[in-house]
Amino acid sequence: MYLAITTNMSIPTDKTLADQGVTQPHQIAELYVLVRTHFDAHFGNVHEESDWQLFRDRWLGRKSGVLKQITDYWLKPAKPALKSAVGAGLNELRAHVESQIEARRLAIESGAEESALLRERIDLSLPAVHRPVGSHHLIRQVFQEIEDIFVSIGFSVVEGPEIETPYYNFEALNIPEFHPVRDDMDTFYLELPKGAKTPLLLRTHTSPMQIRTMEKQKPPVRVIVPGKVYRRDNPDATHSFAFHQIEGLAVDTDITFCDFTGTIEYFVKQFFGPSVKTRFRPSYFPFTEPSVEFDVSCIFCGGSGAAVGGGTCSKCKGSAWIELFGAGMVDPAVYGFVKYDAKKLSGFAFGMGIDRLAMLKYGIDDIQVFFQNDVRFLRQFP
Ligand code: DAH
Repeated sequence: MYLAITTNMSIPTDKTLADQGVTQPHQIAELYVLVRTHFDAHFGNVHEESDWQLFRDRWLGRKSGVLKQITDYWLKPAKPALKSAVGAGLNELRAHVESQIEARRLAIESGAEESALLRERIDLSLPAVHRPVGSHHLIRQVFQEIEDIFVSIGFSVVEGPEIETPYYNFEALNIPEFHPVRDDMDTFYLELPKGAKTPLLLRTHTSPMQIRTMEKQKPPVRVIVPGKVYRRDNPDATHSFAFHQIEGLAVDTDITFCDFTGTIEYFVKQFFGPSVKTRFRPSYFPFTEPSVEFDVSCIFCGGSGAAVGGGTCSKCKGSAWIELFGAGMVDPAVYGFVKYDAKKLSGFAFGMGIDRLAMLKYGIDDIQVFFQNDVRFLRQFP
């Protein structure tokens, strides 16, 4: 293709008419026919833009295009008698060449455009790219459920740091060093640079936020604190080094034990359904007095203690009750740490394990699934 466009062997446009022995106007006309035939024959093969450019330059190039050669070799040195014939022929040839080249340019451009359009065409019938929308993790959903219940009865939601000082995690909660309760909360301590003022730890419960809230806020206080907590527990079906709690704290001038049990009972019925029963048993926490452990009638056997097919219910082990969480009336000693007047104020606190509540409510028997993030599990709770 390149050769066909660029060779110029058969048209003597680089020789003067005199050199070619042309002396008569009819010879000039013949020459122009020859050139034009040559142009037409080769131009028929030009279909691509790159060829078109070569061809255009070959014929219309300002320095050495065929038309320029004819001007220089034929027209300029032509004898006066032949000049007008050479000039007229040249004009005609130029008009032909230019119009042909321009017409082909348009054709090539529209053709190229067409094929580009074809290439870039969007097929609306193709299935779209599927980008699945995620959903909240079940733990997050349960947090939300519990927050909604407490917010509806006047509690507000606050959050606090996961890295704590021993003061907030223990001392101010009436858990002095060497208190045996610390054994139940095997704690992760942070490695700090030498000379650090206080040790830092990963909070073992959300209770430190009781202290931080009361330090910041005058009574009345009604808050819940959702969050992550950490303990050096070996992982098994009910233990994980990280898990979730919601702390609750209500302090005012006239809060009674009845307010306390009524609030908890309201929550439990909202969360598990109106048919569940609650009970509390005496317990011990350093920061509450009295302390209780709240139980709910077994949601698996309906509080009968019996399995559907006979025998004892495996979830409550036949006891008909399931232990839910710890709570109590705030120990007056705690008020001392936050400069609240223990004589005027009373209140209650509770701390529930969210993973445990979620497992009970949704029939999950291994806490580890919350942390493995297996989509087959997650998808069951859209
Ligand atoms: N912080 C306790 C724990 O993690 C749970 C707890 C018990 C929180 C009694 C309380 C409470 O606020 O009153 O084991």
